[in-house]
Amino acid sequence: MFDRDRYRRFLKTKRFGLVLETLEQVDSTNNWITTRLRREDIEQVVVVAESQTAGRGRYGRSWVSPPGVSLAFSLAVSIPESLDLASVLTLTAGVSLAETVGSMASVEPGLKYPNDLMIGSKKVAGILAEFKKERARDYAVVGIGINVNTRVEMFPDNLHDIATSLLMESGHETSREALLAMFLFQFESRLRELEADGPKSTIQQFRRLAAPYFGKQVTIDGAGEKVTGRTMDISDNGGLVIETAPGVTKTVISGEARFDTRPMGDK
Ligand code: BTN
Repeated sequence: MFDRDRYRRFLKTKRFGLVLETLEQVDSTNNWITTRLRREDIEQVVVVAESQTAGRGRYGRSWVSPPGVSLAFSLAVSIPESLDLASVLTLTAGVSLAETVGSMASVEPGLKYPNDLMIGSKKVAGILAEFKKERARDYAVVGIGINVNTRVEMFPDNLHDIATSLLMESGHETSREALLAMFLFQFESRLRELEADGPKSTIQQFRRLAAPYFGKQVTIDGAGEKVTGRTMDISDNGGLVIETAPGVTKTVISGEARFDTRPMGDK
């Protein structure tokens, strides 16, 4: 079970994760936070579940993770009216997660736009940001699932080629408690920077981490329109730039479209 005391020893935040809820089982930690957005202290709450009966990924996909070895958690971020954070929030969470995982597990993760944390061609974590309004305030409910100490035989056969864990990549176990506490610290710092100075530094960092995945075929489905092309870059406002025909580019923002890449490694 998730060790609350251990987590507290690592926690250095001022805003996120001061209230820890640990659950044996829940439908989805994102749902759990969403139904509590009225709580005055909701921004301080982080909920961790050992297992989810209806864990969700993007586009209604399911997210399943074995108890004890993976990390599934959510938190609420209140979004100031003055800021158009929505487009860059998932990217900020991704950069913070990549930085945390990279330093803790001594692996070199990358980011596949908009929300997949990768090691090489395999996915190690996913981010689901859902935007909600409660009592005239805008919130993002940010949920993250990480394969931490998952062993290869714990993955279903159909995921063997596309999923991995920190343990499988680094050869050593990583403390889930330290990982969560350090992610929250990094996310809090990156958000503070975003609120003060805008998204430039986050986007630069995202671009660096996403560059290994540029050049892949992608199909983007948004507002009834399907566009196919080759991923090229991240735009200054956090969109994905794709080349739809030689010399013709189009920029699509996550949240406005569905992204389907071919299996990794397949250009
Ligand atoms: C994705 O890769 O599509 C996103 C996966 C997000 C999974 C996490 S696990 C914790 C939180 N609760 C959910 O129901 N989903 C997110």
